[in-house]
Formats: sequence, C-alpha cells, structure tokens
Amino acid sequence: MRILGIESSCDETAAAIVEDGQKILSNVVVSQIDIHSAYGGVIPEVAARSHIEAINPVINQALSDAKLSIDQIDAIAVTHTPGLVGSLLVGTLAARTIAIINNIPFYPTHHLKSHIYANWLSGHQPEFPLLAAVISGGHTQIIYMKRHDHFEIIGTTRDDAIGECFDKAAKILGLPYPGGPAIATAAQNGDPKKYHLPIPQVSDLDFSFSGLKTAVLRAVQKDLNLPITTPSHELAAKLSPQQVADFAASFQDTAVNILIQKLRKATETYPAKSIVLAGGVSANQLLRSKLTKSFSKTHQVYFPEPQYSTDNGAMVASAAYFSIQAGEHASNPYSLDISPRSIIH
Ligand code: KG4
Ligand code: ZN
Repeated sequence: MRILGIESSCDETAAAIVEDGQKILSNVVVSQIDIHSAYGGVIPEVAARSHIEAINPVINQALSDAKLSIDQIDAIAVTHTPGLVGSLLVGTLAARTIAIINNIPFYPTHHLKSHIYANWLSGHQPEFPLLAAVISGGHTQIIYMKRHDHFEIIGTTRDDAIGECFDKAAKILGLPYPGGPAIATAAQNGDPKKYHLPIPQVSDLDFSFSGLKTAVLRAVQKDLNLPITTPSHELAAKLSPQQVADFAASFQDTAVNILIQKLRKATETYPAKSIVLAGGVSANQLLRSKLTKSFSKTHQVYFPEPQYSTDNGAMVASAAYFSIQAGEHASNPYSLDISPRSIIH
C-alpha cells in the first residue's frame, strides 16, 4: 500500500510517499527556517503564505522522486491537528482536493502520532508495550502504547514545551532560531557542570520547563553581575563565546536529565519493552547517547533517523498506514475539520 503523506502544521512544507508504512519511496521537505530565523520564531501568517507557495511543488516533487503518478497512490494522509490554523489549512486543503479529484481514500492524521511513527520508518519494529517521549517545539508528553494505534498520555508539560525551552534559552544566549541545534552546537565547547540549573520538582510524570528558562536568565544576569531587572535582549552581547558555550552545555545537560529522570520514573509504573523518542528535540545527540546509556540494558531504545525527527511527510504516511492496519476507515474529504489543539487518542 502506497500512501502520500502531507505535513504543513508548522514551518515545514513536506510530502512523502511510503510503501507499507516503512519503505520510503520519496521524502521532500521545504523548510521555512531561514524566513523565520530573521524574526527569532515562527510568524503564523508568514508560515501560511509560504506553505501556499510550496505545497503544490512539494507534492509534485514527492511523486516524481518516487517515479509514480497520482493514480498509483492508494491513500492520502494529511496532518489535521494540532498546529497553526493557517498552516494546517493549506496542507489539508491540498490533500482534500487531490483526494476528491482522484477519488483516493483520505486519512486525516494526528501530528504527534506521526512523530511517534517516525520510529517505524526504514523497517524498524519497536516492540510493545512501549513508552514514547514526544518532545517537540509545541509538545512534551510521555505516551504509553500497549499496541499500534493505542495512545495513553501518562505525562505532559504544565507550561512550556521542551523544544520551546531550547528556543527561548537560545534567544537569551543570542543564538539563532531554532534554538535546539544552535544550543547543541554551542554546547560542544562548553562545560555542562559550569552552571547549576535546578531541576523543577513536579509530581507524577508531568513536566515544567518555564522555570528552567527563567533559571538560565537569572544565571546569566548573575554571571554578568547585572540586576534581575536587566532585559533579556541586553544580555547576549555581553557574554563571551566561552560563557555562551558553558551556559548552552549546562542548559542542555539539565534539560536532558529532566527527561531521562521522568522516563525512568515512567518505567517503574508502566511495563515497557521499548522506549522511543519522537519530535524535533529527539534529534539531540546528547539525549540520544544518555538515553541509550541509561536504558539499553533493560529496554530497546529507538529514535528516528535525524531527518525524520523534525517535521516530514513520511511519518504522516507511516502513522496512517498503521491506523489503517488497526481498522481505521477513510474519512470524508468534503467535511474535514482542522483543529489547532487536540489530544492524541
Ligand atoms: O517536531 P518539530 O520539528 O516541530 C514541532 O512539531 O514543534 O520540533 C521543533 C523543535 C524546535 O523547538 C527545535 O529547537 C527542536 O525541535 N530541535 C532540537 C534539536 N533539533 C531541533 N532540540 C534540541 N536539540 C536538537 N538537536
Ligand atoms: Zn512536529
């Protein structure tokens, strides 16, 4: 079964064709990072306009890279929630139109589910039951899956998402958007033990990341001997490259430790054979190596190949495939609702 997966929920316009949920026949991603980095974050209106320009060429490229015509596609899957409304509208309208004109079965797909299924691409088979850490710019959740297409949220953030926290910490340090890769690069020359940043004490399996962002701000102000009233945008210019590297390393280490501690706690209550990482922050190398070190003796550990960690169409096609296998029926492309927020279920 060949599925065309379309993704436009945030700042990547992406389409891919995947066979039987795992074999990637093509994968095209047009990123808007260069456009948004000028503003230090995603501007929703600008994102929607960029998707309009890119969506048709991206879909056509995915078909031509796979050497397929649209009548050789068995199903169309598209992200319909959660995400930026204007961005979601562009991808879903394109997908609905193609599905209607060509009479192809149509599957709206949940973005976080897709991130999890990036772990099945290229033939990997994580064993159930599993714990998935969905860690992206908009989400931080631990999800328990007993089987395919079954999602139980067992931990979530009470404020900022972990990726958002990377982006905000990077901004304080004068590093570019997106903050995750910029922090990881800067941290290579830094000492992770140089600054002590507190781990927020949140009960259960929930997270809180807004305190960590503030802790970075206060630590920078203190290191520069400046009062806490100094605006954050005035700090970066005063930091030496070594200070930036040490703050980046200390921050990254703390964020990764928070996640590992919560996953450890989750394994104590939820029996799992595998642990999978999903979402943009799963591209982080320190996280990958610490996770492997902490859990590989007791669990299978999976993370998506780096290009499938961030938003892409292949993961959308894979998620739809496994939903179809689990019995999901095609949706009516004439009456699709998009939704900026929604819980995975
Ligand atoms: O999944 P994604 O592409 O989009 C959302 O659905 O949010 O995730 C984007 C997030 C951004 O916050 C970015 O800073 C973060 O993923 N990110 C990273 C790394 N690469 C991307 N965070 C930490 N380390 C990385 N290497
Ligand atoms: Zn995403």
